Amino acid sequence: MSRDKKRKRHRKSEEGTSEHVAKKQATEPLPEGVHFYQHLSEVPWDIQKYWKQGYEIFSRYDEGIWMTDNSWFEVTHEAIASKIANHLGQGAPKERVVVLDPFCGVGGNVIALAQSDRFKRVYAIEKDPVALTCAKHNAEIYGVADRITWFEGDCFEQLGKDDNSALVNLIRKHGVVIASPPWGGPSYKSADVFDLETMEPYKLSELHKTFTGICDYVALYLPRTSDLNQVSRLVGRGNSQVIHYCTRGMSRALCVYFGDWGKIEERIDI
Ligand SMILES: C[S@@+](CC[C@H](N)C(=O)[O-])C[C@H]1O[C@@H](n2cnc3c(N)ncnc32)[C@H](O)[C@@H]1O
Repeated sequence: MSRDKKRKRHRKSEEGTSEHVAKKQATEPLPEGVHFYQHLSEVPWDIQKYWKQGYEIFSRYDEGIWMTDNSWFEVTHEAIASKIANHLGQGAPKERVVVLDPFCGVGGNVIALAQSDRFKRVYAIEKDPVALTCAKHNAEIYGVADRITWFEGDCFEQLGKDDNSALVNLIRKHGVVIASPPWGGPSYKSADVFDLETMEPYKLSELHKTFTGICDYVALYLPRTSDLNQVSRLVGRGNSQVIHYCTRGMSRALCVYFGDWGKIEERIDI
């Protein structure tokens, strides 16, 4: 189905809400750097391919989802985010009831986590204030904003701050971490095997050290071509599981689950 037909169908089924947001956005200028593209002609050329996937990214896109131009390349698509939320819930021990996303972007993962009843609260950190503004707005569209606590800033600094020691203790004792760091641009696509120790701006060992330093249950969302030898060297005798997330029979990315997670399904087609 073409995007325009799909758009019309979606508009019809969600008329009240979409109309409301459209009106609101027509009268109120969006914050600087925030976009809600409604027609291909408005979309920068390098994003057009992603914009056409809009409903796969956020099924409620038409209700006024806010994006930054960078976030089109980075956001976790809704079906995958929802699978990951299920897997985190399935694999974590029962007493692990909160979840931290230290790179929350425009909210792909946190919205799915907040939609799942498995977690009592979602904690989200994002250093780009514009992306964070989008995430808060998008969580409202999905009706889950009240289940999320937001922090603006660098996650490495935030997690080291005395002010946030209660959060760190909570995550240590009762939480899990799902981190989807930047992958350093699209270069990973051309790599047969992607070197996670040259990943920019944060290499695998640094991410692993920081997050396993505060929590025994850490999942990292990484390129599908990631060098798993590097993962296995890091894990040593410890436990880990790797799950590929596929759409239309193709892996889009993988998650490494570090720690003693319960058995999670092995390979999922969405
Ligand atoms: C791959 S994106 C995350 C996408 C997110 N999972 C989503 O679905 O929207 C990585 C995000 O991490 C943010 N970021 C990069 N370094 C950060 C840091 N040190 N602390 C917090 N956020 C950071 C970037 O601004 C970007 O929004």
